[in-house]
Amino acid sequence: MSNSTTLKVVSVVISAFAIVQMALAGDPDILSDFIGPINGMIPDGNFFTYTGFRVLVGQNSPPSTFKVLKATMAEFPALNGQSVSYAVLQFPANTINPPHTHPRSAELLFVAQGSLQVGFVDTTNKLFTQSLQAGDMFVFPKGLVHFQHNADASKPALAISSFASANSGTVSLPNTLFNTSIDDTVLALSFKTNVATIQTLKKGFAP
Ligand SMILES: *[C@@H]1O[C@H](CO)[C@@H](O)[C@H](O)[C@H]1NC(C)=O
Repeated sequence: MSNSTTLKVVSVVISAFAIVQMALAGDPDILSDFIGPINGMIPDGNFFTYTGFRVLVGQNSPPSTFKVLKATMAEFPALNGQSVSYAVLQFPANTINPPHTHPRSAELLFVAQGSLQVGFVDTTNKLFTQSLQAGDMFVFPKGLVHFQHNADASKPALAISSFASANSGTVSLPNTLFNTSIDDTVLALSFKTNVATIQTLKKGFAP
């Protein structure tokens, strides 16, 4: 083979490998159709049904603060091994879902009601933002820091998010940094401020 032919073969092999890697970007494949109940019971249709979102239908008293209803494998065990999950996000007027990441999945958000200001920051520290209205969809790439804000002063917003993992995980930046026992000095140096400022920030998370 000539050098250029060898190069072409190598690049085809590399891109084929990259495509396979992309196809494997969800949870690991399981070697059965599904993973049944852990108590060993024979599953029926009920096992594959989640009714935790019924509370949203004809809801008379919407929440007073930002609220997430989840259907991950923790709430809905039939999702174990299926690489999918859901969340319903309810935003009263003027509320936020603070900056956070999902380490194991991208997030595909659909705005069902109201409007949302959303954004994420990529690994080069570039911010991408958008104003979404009802009917719009937005994708937050896997693992990147992102947020959603209902900036409307009077109208609530409702969004539905789907994930390509049964357990995508959530790392909330405010909670991770200021509601754990990371040393005040470490945080003060990291944020180029003093310990007193860090302690003020931590107070907002105290029970
Ligand atoms: C702080 O962490 C505790 C323990 O994990 C948790 O119960 C509480 O909700 C957190 N506070 C806030 C404001 O997120």
